[in-house]
Order: sequence, then C-alpha cells, then structure tokens
Amino acid sequence: MRATQTGDLWWKTAVVYCLDVQTFYDSNGDGIGDFAGLSERLDHLVELGVTVVWLMPFYPTADVDDGYDITDFYTVDPRLGTLGDFVEFMRSARSRGLRVIADLVVNHTSAKHPWFQSSRSSVDSQYRDWYVWRDEPGPEKPGDVVFPDRETSIWTKDRKAGQYYLHRFYRSQPDLNVANPAVRDEIARIIGFWMELGLSGFRVDAVPFLLETSGIEGGAGDLPQPHEYLRDLRAFLGRRSGDAILLGEVNLPFEQARTFFGDEDGDELTMLFDFPTMQAMFLGLAREDAGPIRSALLARPETPGDSQWAVFVRNHDELTLDKLSGAERQEVFTAFGPDEGMQVYGRGLRRRLPTMVGGDGRRVRLAYSLMMSLPGTPTLFYGEEIGMGENLDLPGRMAVRTPMQWQAGEMGGFSTAKNADALCRPFPATPYSPDEVNVVAQRHDPGSLFSFLRERIRCYRECPELGWGALSVLDHDVPAVLAHRCDWRGGTLLLCHNLGSTAATVRLSLPEQPSGARCVDLFDRSTQLAITADGSLEVTLPPYGGRWFRLLTGSSSELV
Ligand code: NOJ
Ligand code: CA
Repeated sequence: MRATQTGDLWWKTAVVYCLDVQTFYDSNGDGIGDFAGLSERLDHLVELGVTVVWLMPFYPTADVDDGYDITDFYTVDPRLGTLGDFVEFMRSARSRGLRVIADLVVNHTSAKHPWFQSSRSSVDSQYRDWYVWRDEPGPEKPGDVVFPDRETSIWTKDRKAGQYYLHRFYRSQPDLNVANPAVRDEIARIIGFWMELGLSGFRVDAVPFLLETSGIEGGAGDLPQPHEYLRDLRAFLGRRSGDAILLGEVNLPFEQARTFFGDEDGDELTMLFDFPTMQAMFLGLAREDAGPIRSALLARPETPGDSQWAVFVRNHDELTLDKLSGAERQEVFTAFGPDEGMQVYGRGLRRRLPTMVGGDGRRVRLAYSLMMSLPGTPTLFYGEEIGMGENLDLPGRMAVRTPMQWQAGEMGGFSTAKNADALCRPFPATPYSPDEVNVVAQRHDPGSLFSFLRERIRCYRECPELGWGALSVLDHDVPAVLAHRCDWRGGTLLLCHNLGSTAATVRLSLPEQPSGARCVDLFDRSTQLAITADGSLEVTLPPYGGRWFRLLTGSSSELV
C-alpha cells in the first residue's frame, strides 16, 4: 500500500496552507490583494510543497470581522476581483495539482445581509425565522461571549424588530436559525454553489455554535439531533463530490471533540483541528518540557479510519490558550507574550511564533519539525514559511494578518501602490519588516527557514506513516525530549524532539528488530544509527533540535 492508495484519501497526507486573498498579492496596485494576484503567486505554494489552499472568507462583507461577516454568500468581494477571477484562480490551482477549500461561515451572517435586514423589518418577513428572536434575552452561561473585548452578552435588542437576537460573536453577526429547514436548505445551496466551481471542501467555521440550538425558542424541535444535521451536511457534500472534505473548527476538549468526527462512524467532519495538542505544545515549549505534549498525545482519541486531525502551530486568530489552566496559561504568557498588549481576550496571544521565541531560529524550526511529525495533516498559516512577525500596532487579531512579504522594500513586493499608506494593512517593523524577512531572500538560501520547511514538507509527503500510522509515545528519562514512533504497513518512523536548551541523549527501546536493523536520519542520510542486539538505540539531539528517522531492516525497500 503506497501512493496509489493513499491518494484516494488525499486529505490524510495533505499539507494545508491558509491564506487571505486580501493580504497575499495585489495585482493592480490598489493596495489590496486579489484573486488575480493569488493566481500569479501559486508557484510559491507549489515550490513549498503544499497541496491544499484554504481560502479565508473572500465573499462580500461588512468587514467588521475581517470577512467573517458575510453580506452575500454567492459571489466574490469586489475588492478581491470577480467570480471570473475566482474561476481563473481555481483553474490555475488545479493545473498545478493544488486543491482548494474555502471557509464556510454559516453560523451567522453580517447584520447588513439582506436576509437579516428583511428579518428585522417585520414579523411577517419570509426571513423572520431565519434568525433567532426572543422577547427577552435567552439563556447565557459564563464564557458564552466569544469576544469579551467588545460584547457583554450574546443577546442584543434590535430596535426595529423590538426583540432580542442571538449572536455568538459580535452583535453585527446575527446567528442563523438552523432549526429552520429553509435555512438548512440555503446552507446546502451555498455548499453546492461553490462545489460546482471546483472546491474540494470547506473549513467549517465555529461548528459547535452552528449546531447549538439551545437559544431557539421551541424551534429546536424542528431540527434533527445536531449531530444528525452534521451527518446530513456531510452526506450532501459527499453526494455532490465523493472525496470532498469538511475540516471543522471545533475547539473542545478531546472527549467532546471526537463526537464531531461522528464517533467511530466517521460520518460527520472529515477533519478537526487539534487545538488541545497545539496548546500543549506551547506549554511544553515554554517549560522546555515534553510532558504536556506527551499527555496530550496520550489523551488524543484515535480517529475513525478515513478521518484525520489537522495539526498546526498558528492560525489566523489569537493563539488561544483557553484549554490550559489559569496557571499554565500564565506560564505561556510569561514566556512568550508578557506584555498585556501581546495578549487578547484574556486567553490568547496575538503574536507569531518567531517573535514569541525572541527570534531564535532553532526554536522556530523545532516547533515546525515537531508539529509536522505529529500524526495528522499539517496546516500552515501564510507567512509562517518565512518566519513573518506581527504588527502589534494593529488591533486585536489583525496583528498577525499583515501583507505577505515577498521581497525587500517599502511595499514588500506585495503591491505596486504608490506608497505604504495605500496598503490594506501595514507591515511589521524592523527586525521583521520585508527588508529582513521575505520570500526572495529565502528561496535560494539552503539555510533559510523556507528551505527547512520545504524539506520537512517533502519528507512528510514521502512518509505516509505520519498521516496514516499508529502513534506510540516512547519512554526514556530526559524530560525535555519527546520521542514518538509512527507505524504503518511495515514502515516505522522514529521522531525525536528536544525542547530544552542543552543537548540531550536519549536511549530508546525498539525491541524485536532483526539483526542489521538501523535507523537512518532522514535529513542527514549519511547518519545511520545501529540498533543493538537488546533492541535499544541512542539518539543525540542538539539544543532545541529535532530529528526524524526511518527504521531500516534488511528487507527494507525504501528510497532513503
Ligand atoms: C472563527 C474564525 O476563525 C474567526 O476568525 C471568526 O472571528 C469567528 N469564527 C466568527 O466567524
Ligand atoms: Ca488589488
């Protein structure tokens, strides 16, 4: 079983790259990235080795939540181009073997969406029941407000409607009423529309909130069990395209998250972001102790056969630490974002990784090496491949959503606008400005972060054990080191990462190997470590170092 078969379940060995069209590449000099520009820059993604582009929302928007407040689900934000430009982009991506998924944001609309405007205007509107209205504020628990910087309740009274409406996010993002069959039909139409234009699936925004019906008076009776609805959505998608996926945003503890795969049936979300392991990774990096990651991996439920975890270091939101205890969160804050201005919502950081670790390239590489070695599908956020920093002068989460840095200079090769004031967002300052951090400088430099990641990605793609295999966390006596192995169909990978600032040597046990068995270092192929007769192996790791090995036995036919 090799490439011929792993290709069917393409998402299990994919490398996903999230970008915002607006901040990627501006083709017409108006300071705003666009689809025509993105099409011109696809070769960068091909060179890096990513296989799936995840587009953040590109639909017309009131732009209160950076595109996550949509005013029309069926076209492209005119600032980014036209539907024609979108189709050209899709064709260009396909011709390079890239798949495309897009954000599906249907928990809510913008308050400016014509549906909401009609809904609030009259109880007789055909759209009245498309949203969740009540005479008095509905139920609310502590922690329900997602954006506590700007909201104090998830219920707001609309003067025109004379009633309260539900909004899990900003008040300008009223929640759709999924208990209403007409809303469910519309969501299916939206999915169907974009599938016809060639998408391979969706990143589904805020899934637990989408399924939540507790605030809907009487209406929940109309909704099949929430998970039945998710099953329906997945089945509908599958009817439209058999190998399309739903990659869900479900930031819940593992026990609750598994249900969103559809438990053992695997008939709901195809993939879930692994938020718990990401948070444990930051705690581990802060402590220079592999313990938290080890515990997370041991607690992580196995996925049903076709399903998959999406692993990541950073996404476009705050780096949330909400699943850590207060004391643990404080440890990460102290290590990686001590100033209040680096934190947001009391639960996360608004920095990118390189600045968090004080620009220490060893720690940056360690984090990506570790993330990519965890069983799952790696997901990158644009700019991570070159170590972009953030701009803390921008409000909230926008700090990490600055324009892509293609080359040195005031405009960073992002735009030909007249001056930097015309750009949709300003770049970070020195030492993370385009002069210091850019694609052109790194792509031909074998020692660059870009080259490092390109090499890891190539290796990840060659090692289906990482996407498919069974994980074991290995015992040894060095707390700073995480050693794990992934086994699949006769192949074994051994992955070792040292979170500590001093070199470390671990003795690992790989029992029952035939004589002559050895481990080859996949990034230094002249190094082969012998496994002793008693089945043990000694691995030395530099400070903040990560090494990946393949086990070779006499009969191995691997190309190494
Ligand atoms: C989650 C998205 O990742 C975030 O950026 C957005 O603000 C909320 N959902 C609301 O759509
Ligand atoms: Ca433009």
